[in-house]
Amino acid sequence: MPTDDIAVHYHLTPAEVEEIEAALGGVDPDEVQPTDPAFYERHWALYASLPQRLRLFIERFRRTEEATACFVHGFPVDADAVGPTPQHWRTADGRPTRAQEVFMAMCALALGEPFTWSTLQEGRMIQNIFPVQGDELRQSGHGSEALLEFHTEDGFHPGRADYLMLFGIRNHDAVPTILSSVRDVKLDAGTARVLSEPRFLIMPDDEHVRQLQTHHPDHPALERVLDMQQRPEPVPVLFGGDADPYLRIDRPFMRCVGEDPVAEQALDTLMEELERVQHSVVVEPGTLMVVDNYLAVHGRKPFRSRYDGTDRWLKRMIVSRDVRKSAMNRMPESRRVLA
Ligand SMILES: [Fe+2]
Repeated sequence: MPTDDIAVHYHLTPAEVEEIEAALGGVDPDEVQPTDPAFYERHWALYASLPQRLRLFIERFRRTEEATACFVHGFPVDADAVGPTPQHWRTADGRPTRAQEVFMAMCALALGEPFTWSTLQEGRMIQNIFPVQGDELRQSGHGSEALLEFHTEDGFHPGRADYLMLFGIRNHDAVPTILSSVRDVKLDAGTARVLSEPRFLIMPDDEHVRQLQTHHPDHPALERVLDMQQRPEPVPVLFGGDADPYLRIDRPFMRCVGEDPVAEQALDTLMEELERVQHSVVVEPGTLMVVDNYLAVHGRKPFRSRYDGTDRWLKRMIVSRDVRKSAMNRMPESRRVLA
């Protein structure tokens, strides 16, 4: 299905690319980098150097909620200059993709407040997404051969992202990302009502817990996340108004409160509907995709990785409308890094 009915698109003109590249020229590549939270404190005003037409496009997407996703096409990626797809995010050299990272950071600043989790690629603000050897079957961005099931990003967490951003560096095999909008789903009134009641539990994923235990055993967030795992708070799946609800779902990590076959059935019906209305999107090199994490669920089709430097490579960021809401989860080093 084409994305036209759930997404809005923006195409950079050659003059606009020049304008952005001129602004990038003013950033010292050896100074603070957009993977570092300090970049956003020091260089936040960079977003003002984006072409006004683009800033307004991004702002309109946020303010009007007119679409479930938006795309900005046409930021240059030189396949030779960025080098082969790295083998592991820990050893990936950020320099060859610095321009793309700064462009992405500028768009993120135009949209809201970029943030990250300390448990995610060691707290880097921009993460590299490519298949990692040994992780083929994992339900994560580093998997490949397993279907990455539809989910809300960090669905278990009240401080989850408002927006998920993916930027394409390489995608030779046109590996699709899948998106479904809650706005396309058709549910009978009874099912919608059940899904709007706090009859569901979403557990934190084990990786989040394991990383906190290993790296931040003393942070109060560990206790909270263990509590979320052992005594998760019942939440509704649909929320925010019957006419145009938001969505929060992560099926592999969910169960219903007590024995509740009606709620189980409602959840299955919703998942079937999300499958039915799914869109396949190929994030091409040079394209930025922004997904509204309150309106869309996303996933990925299985693909075969080669580990020869030509695998799919994306950059990923998350953006909040208001990081203050998660102040209790802050790491001491930055209010943009949450535990
Ligand atoms: Fe995800």
